[in-house]
Amino acid sequence: MTIRIQPSILSADFVNFERDFESISAADGIHVDIMDGHFVPNLTFGLPMVKRMQEITKLPLDVHLMIENPDLWAKQYAALGVFSVTVHLEACANPVQIAKEIRDSGSRAGLAIKPKTAVEQLVPYIDFFDQVLIMSVEPGFGGQSFIESSISKVLEAKALLGEKSVWLQIDGGVDETNIAQLAQAGVDTFVAGSSVFKATDRNAQINLLRSLATSGTHGH
Ligand code: DX5
Ligand code: ZN
Repeated sequence: MTIRIQPSILSADFVNFERDFESISAADGIHVDIMDGHFVPNLTFGLPMVKRMQEITKLPLDVHLMIENPDLWAKQYAALGVFSVTVHLEACANPVQIAKEIRDSGSRAGLAIKPKTAVEQLVPYIDFFDQVLIMSVEPGFGGQSFIESSISKVLEAKALLGEKSVWLQIDGGVDETNIAQLAQAGVDTFVAGSSVFKATDRNAQINLLRSLATSGTHGH
């Protein structure tokens, strides 16, 4: 199983992205949180900023849309050429159409659920998506504590995905205390915001998280 560590730039310095991207060069990708102040209470940035990010880094951008009306916006992020675009099931009118539009632009399509949304709600849609995101905090803010019941949601999602080549991603409160258990439960793609950005040596922290996750998969 390939383990991927994607630092979330929600914890970065918003006026020094270029410098902060360089400090996480060991990452497998950069998780970009888009918040509109409606789907979640917080606000970040939009398309023009992501366009510039594409120009200043070679790392794949994993765009997480925490916005209303992803039916309108998701394809526009995909059209920038980002690596992946994830939408929230709770916000989509037509998830299958969105997935098709994201894939038509050459990006991977992701489907996310909030902590209170049941895994079984994903069932009708997983065949149209490339990755599934289990939120392990209420979306909106970095630095929150991991919701323990997310582990059982991961196990449920893993059982649902079976041998499908769909990536299983987790976002919220991931750090060195829980990453091995999450990998053991079936997560392959880890978003980590504060645990990476608060580290003095961010690349060392990324490598530590990756090796702990890899050790969690031993025996699988
Ligand atoms: C939360 C965001 C996360 C956040 C994670 O709504 O989707 O990506 O940045 O931050 P940590 O890892 O600090 O919980
Ligand atoms: Zn996120």
